[in-house]
Amino acid sequence: MNLSLATTPANATSCDVLVLTAMPKGRGVTLMTHGVTAAQQSKILAALATLGATGKAGEVSKLGAMSGLKAKAVIVVGTGDSQKIGDAETYRQAIGSAVRACVGSRKVAVVADRDNAAEAALAAGLAAYDFRAFKSAPGKAPAPPAIVTIIVPAAQAESVRSKVSQVQPVVKAVHLARDLVNTPPNALFPADLAAAAKSAVAGQPVKVTVWDEKALKRDGCGGILAVGQGSSHPPRLVKLEYAPAGATAHLALVGKGITFDTGGISIKPAAGMDEMKGDMGGAAAVICAVKAIAELSLPLRVTGWVPTAENMPSGDAQRPGDVITMFDGTTVEVLNTDAEGRLVLADALGMAVKEHPDMLIDVATLTGAARVALGSRIAGVMSNDDSARSQVCAAAELVGEPSWPMPLPADLRPSLDSATADIANIGDRFGGMLSAGVFLQHFIPKGQAWVHIDIAGPSWNDKAAYGYTPKGGTGAAVRTFVQVANDLAAR
Ligand code: BES
Ligand code: MN
Ligand code: ZN
Repeated sequence: MNLSLATTPANATSCDVLVLTAMPKGRGVTLMTHGVTAAQQSKILAALATLGATGKAGEVSKLGAMSGLKAKAVIVVGTGDSQKIGDAETYRQAIGSAVRACVGSRKVAVVADRDNAAEAALAAGLAAYDFRAFKSAPGKAPAPPAIVTIIVPAAQAESVRSKVSQVQPVVKAVHLARDLVNTPPNALFPADLAAAAKSAVAGQPVKVTVWDEKALKRDGCGGILAVGQGSSHPPRLVKLEYAPAGATAHLALVGKGITFDTGGISIKPAAGMDEMKGDMGGAAAVICAVKAIAELSLPLRVTGWVPTAENMPSGDAQRPGDVITMFDGTTVEVLNTDAEGRLVLADALGMAVKEHPDMLIDVATLTGAARVALGSRIAGVMSNDDSARSQVCAAAELVGEPSWPMPLPADLRPSLDSATADIANIGDRFGGMLSAGVFLQHFIPKGQAWVHIDIAGPSWNDKAAYGYTPKGGTGAAVRTFVQVANDLAAR
């Protein structure tokens, strides 16, 4: 998908679909456009009035070709008052709905201005996505737009050009994260995820190190090995290092990479198990965030850690009751093999903290309880540091990835006590999202700022597409990480 900026007047732009926005005004709408004559505008407004358009956010009106306009069709999308009150997310969702309505059209132009050109580009880019790699005839179904042009008045182009040019790397990264999540589990084993990480950052100044099962054993990564031991596709740990000269701030990211989670011997029910191909959504977010940050040449050091394994039941699988030794020496009694994410994360966190990053963030499709508590669109954010947690939530809010602060109650810690080992891998069932966080906290030394994001809800959209979000993998957390990196770099 190609994103660009243009200053050709809207009515002279050759494209399949010209997207205009409208806001509510009186009983009808007011059109937000430039480069269209007054007569053309009245014609469009008359058509909208006939259709009963109200301008409410996300309302898509498909108009045909209009004489005097070079576009083959016109779509007008309502943005509500978002353009007046500066509600960027509502505006982005509206543009997303319009661009999704353009499926089957190759070239789409969106009319914007200096205040919203970058948001229009981002939303259009994110919306122009589908996943067809595994269709036998991928050319058959109508495709999302391949060329998206943002039209701004000529006098404003220079003021937005650099902001708009920063959008494409982010869009590409989110698309890749969605692709990785959507890829079937028989096409993405741990070694494939490691290879995908390498190819994601190929050509960028990012050093990639992969631990195979031998190296994991050598280095004492007992959690990653235990989770992976039931699978004939062995586990991996991937480290991505971006360290531009002169960087001062250091951000470390850790992402859960379970390529398929059957639950292991504590096996999951059959219904919906296929969704567990998305149990590497955290890993996808980390890989793709590092990719975007490197492509944007952001001036900070970023280290990504991706522990990846397939959680399978077999004669070699770990059993409930097994005691394993993690990278930092902690012994863990595995009371439930389906609480595997925290085991692979514990090793990677143990490694990450040895570098003392300024901020350490892990992201994981960790608990069903997170979905129960917050629904499928909101991530739960836990931390040992109130200001770090607020920083992450603020970044998420800014980019339109909904999140909510959650506590790490100290009183849940005893529920993780084990009679046999240092700690058990499951605690209180009530507050399951929180006891998972409290387990992870065991591996974070005092003084290390750490944030844990549970994306079990927002990583996967099991309902219809909405706004700029497709069905299936959403690429959740990539844009939050890019924003956090921008914030840390600017500090
Ligand atoms: N990957 C799952 C969590 C999950 C569930 C993510 C649904 C997305 C959608 C995780 O590994 C898991 O199985 N968690 C258990 C923990 C329990 C055994 C303490 C859960 O949530 O049931
Ligand atoms: Mn599990
Ligand atoms: Zn899992």
